[in-house]
Amino acid sequence: MEEKELSKLKPIGVFDSGYGGLTILKEILRLLPQYDYIYLGDNARAPYGTRSFDVVYDFTRQAVEELFSRGCRLVILACNTASAKALRTLQEQLIPDKYPDHRVLGVILPTVECLPVITKTGHIGLLATPGTVKSHSYKLEVAKIDPEMTITEVECPMWVPLVESGEFDGPGADYFVKKRINTLLEMDPQIDTMILGCTHYPLLLPKIRQYTPKGVSILAQGEFVARSLENYMKRHSEIEGETSKGGSVQFLTTENTDKFDSLASLFLGKDVISSRIYL
Ligand code: DGL
Repeated sequence: MEEKELSKLKPIGVFDSGYGGLTILKEILRLLPQYDYIYLGDNARAPYGTRSFDVVYDFTRQAVEELFSRGCRLVILACNTASAKALRTLQEQLIPDKYPDHRVLGVILPTVECLPVITKTGHIGLLATPGTVKSHSYKLEVAKIDPEMTITEVECPMWVPLVESGEFDGPGADYFVKKRINTLLEMDPQIDTMILGCTHYPLLLPKIRQYTPKGVSILAQGEFVARSLENYMKRHSEIEGETSKGGSVQFLTTENTDKFDSLASLFLGKDVISSRIYL
């Protein structure tokens, strides 16, 4: 009986292809520190952004099922590429077929929902991975919220590799950051709001700020996703009531733990000790 009661309490799963989801986790921990979390970074197979739909779906499904098997009932895809390419199929097929009591949420909708209060010109820029851009998920969601809003999308294929290799603050990053921001603003000079549509990109924020004109708001997603999760928990007492509240975070990576621990500690500003898993 006691065992059953204990096993009922579930941590929240947070998944990304690598380090990017830590920028989301950081904000979630700031707003909702009471819950227990399991973070999973599939660093061994990152980046996902240049992979096909099928591959991103398979990798994401494996990670989500791994988190379910570790007791999570709710998993956040803290990755735009996975949200763009895998979320819908997970929600419409995997969950109803195999895990009807489980839930998976993404990061695109919470980001798009905040646009109307931020933009004045209605001209939005999106910087994202090739996968997210090609899916046009942002365009589709924005059109549902406000068909008058325009969104210009630019792929940044080098930005995730810069972060994953720890080169996000090195001089080599300047060239690629500047180039993509300039391309975006040349395509639509009326852009007043620029979405960082990849959870890795906030790690490049000092450089992104350096090359973005003052009047353009830079939107990192962490805060919006955290607020949306808070809201979700308020609306879903059946999930909230079963979420364990020990304030802990367990870190899992599919790559070498030493590298993960040192970069993740840097990003989160606290010591991280991860375990290696194989998907
Ligand atoms: N953090 C992922 C995203 O938000 C990065 C994708 C990748 O691995 O390329 O899209």
